[in-house]
Amino acid sequence: MLPKCYSLHRAIQIIHLSLGMHIDIISLVPELMQSAFAHSIMKRAQASKVVEVNLIHLREYASGKQKQLDDYAFGGGAGMVMMIEPIAACINDLKSKRNYDEIIYMSPDGELLNQKMCNQLSLMTNIIILCGHYKGVDERVREHFITREISIGDYVLSGGELAAAVLSDAVIRLLPGVLNDETSALSDSFQDNLLAPPVYTRPAMYQEWAVPEVLLSGHSANIDKWRHEQSLQRTQKRRPDLLK
Ligand code: ADE
Repeated sequence: MLPKCYSLHRAIQIIHLSLGMHIDIISLVPELMQSAFAHSIMKRAQASKVVEVNLIHLREYASGKQKQLDDYAFGGGAGMVMMIEPIAACINDLKSKRNYDEIIYMSPDGELLNQKMCNQLSLMTNIIILCGHYKGVDERVREHFITREISIGDYVLSGGELAAAVLSDAVIRLLPGVLNDETSALSDSFQDNLLAPPVYTRPAMYQEWAVPEVLLSGHSANIDKWRHEQSLQRTQKRRPDLLK
């Protein structure tokens, strides 16, 4: 069930492991993301220096007394637009310290996030993620600074922060050394375009509901076969589009 290019992918990841991944997330409300990175697997990944996540408050780059970050849209219309100056100052400052592989803008009109994109991003060393708010950012930011726009689904969030946390989590958990069981990311849903098979734990019998016998057999070839069949059936039933 390994993706075809998996060993090459892993080799590149291991080279990157020695460098560690660095993610800068630029936001008007970084507090919204603090908890997502302060617990469990994300916390461990940072503690073990596999990844460094830097939450940046865009306000630090605003100028003038007002520290203005947004303004009315030229041409009128409801909603404020995030101004180019503070974003440009922030990105230029970051770029003076590191070379970035991607400068990503979280936006509902970006490419739809999937596992393949997460695998690709997990091979990168330095990335910036810009979170939008209000009506979005001045288009010139997208034209001149952003290298990639990513959406986490066809719905509109009130800001890009939760989307940035989703993207970062999905990427960071793929970095070698992050998951306890090195192989567990391999059996995730979508890793080979199949949904994951059902899983069970003790008790083997709950009321009259039994765990499938094959899983208790200790016969690993039969278990692998059963899991693969279950994955196929589940994908056929729930997400036939993935099999095309
Ligand atoms: N910002 C607002 N909605 C979003 C979405 N669906 N994906 C990414 N960023 C967003």
